[in-house]
Amino acid sequence: ALISLRQLLDHAAEHSYGVPAFNVNNLEQMRAIMEAARETNSPVIVQASAGARKYAGAPFLRHLILAAIEEFPEIPVVMHQDHGTSPAVCQRSIQLGFSSVMMDGSLQEDGKTPASYTYNVDVTRCAVDMAHACGVSVEGELGCLGSLETGMAGEEDGVGAEGKLSKEQLLTDPEEAADFVQKTRVDALAIACGTSHGAYKFTRPPTGDILAIGRIREIHARIPDTHLVMHGSSSVPQEWLAVINEFGGEIPETYGVPVEQICEGIKHGVRKVNIDTDLRLASTGAIRRFLAQNPSEFDPRKFYKATLQAMRAICVARYEAFGSAGQA
Ligand code: G3H
Ligand code: 13P
Ligand code: NA
Ligand code: ZN
Repeated sequence: ALISLRQLLDHAAEHSYGVPAFNVNNLEQMRAIMEAARETNSPVIVQASAGARKYAGAPFLRHLILAAIEEFPEIPVVMHQDHGTSPAVCQRSIQLGFSSVMMDGSLQEDGKTPASYTYNVDVTRCAVDMAHACGVSVEGELGCLGSLETGMAGEEDGVGAEGKLSKEQLLTDPEEAADFVQKTRVDALAIACGTSHGAYKFTRPPTGDILAIGRIREIHARIPDTHLVMHGSSSVPQEWLAVINEFGGEIPETYGVPVEQICEGIKHGVRKVNIDTDLRLASTGAIRRFLAQNPSEFDPRKFYKATLQAMRAICVARYEAFGSAGQA
């Protein structure tokens, strides 16, 4: 059944778990996410980015998610729009039937220039007024996502600040967060705490508190009723990097956010954990390996099935680690 982000995250807060929010672009990802949810009895958040809408087309994405709800009626599903760059973008998603939207006013409408605080408040408030009138939840973002190690936003096209960010921009301020939530009435707040989008988060194996866990704790203490969202939460599995590189790929040494660190965040109010890159890496590794090992095979269903199984295993692992398993 389709539910709103607010409904799901209220339940997650009450029962102290986090929910992975997987990006979806195609049938194989959608099936992987849902089959893993059924196997572990987990609720689901699927999110569509602007890039996904460009790739698949909004009607195909919408019906992909609706088909998932039809085939898996026992699983609660949040249909979320990722990184909306304006209230108008959010409005179109609400009209398409999304039950949750992200208004990312931390950046200007170009998706790369850091925005002023007042701009962020204004556009987010506007999106909230519209969405709440339709029973749709809103995720806002305060602070600029970027690696504390490199000061860079990451590799994704379309989302992320250009150029090097300052330490102030890279960590959400708890007092500002309290003011922001009070002024905008967002249901969930994405915070900057040291993660960045894409596969290139850290150049060295992360040790200790790679995330600003102390900052997450301070924000949660200040706004305990606001559900926190962690973007850029892929763990960049070393085993999939090895498979990709073994079968013809060329991905340099790189590291993501360890699952245990995300679980620390979940102990301190993180309820939605955004993951895209991990499913991309698993998918690419599975295709490369399958085609290398089966050079005469040309039925695409064979290698798409390999990608589905690879992504599904990651989804199962995240549902279990974040505690959403058993909560559907
Ligand atoms: O936030 C970024 C997500 O990974 C979506 O990426 O715009 O390439 O679909 P995309
Ligand atoms: P990753 O690139 O770490 O998977 O993050 C995805 C994300 O935050 C989507 O909004
Ligand atoms: Na989002
Ligand atoms: Zn994101």
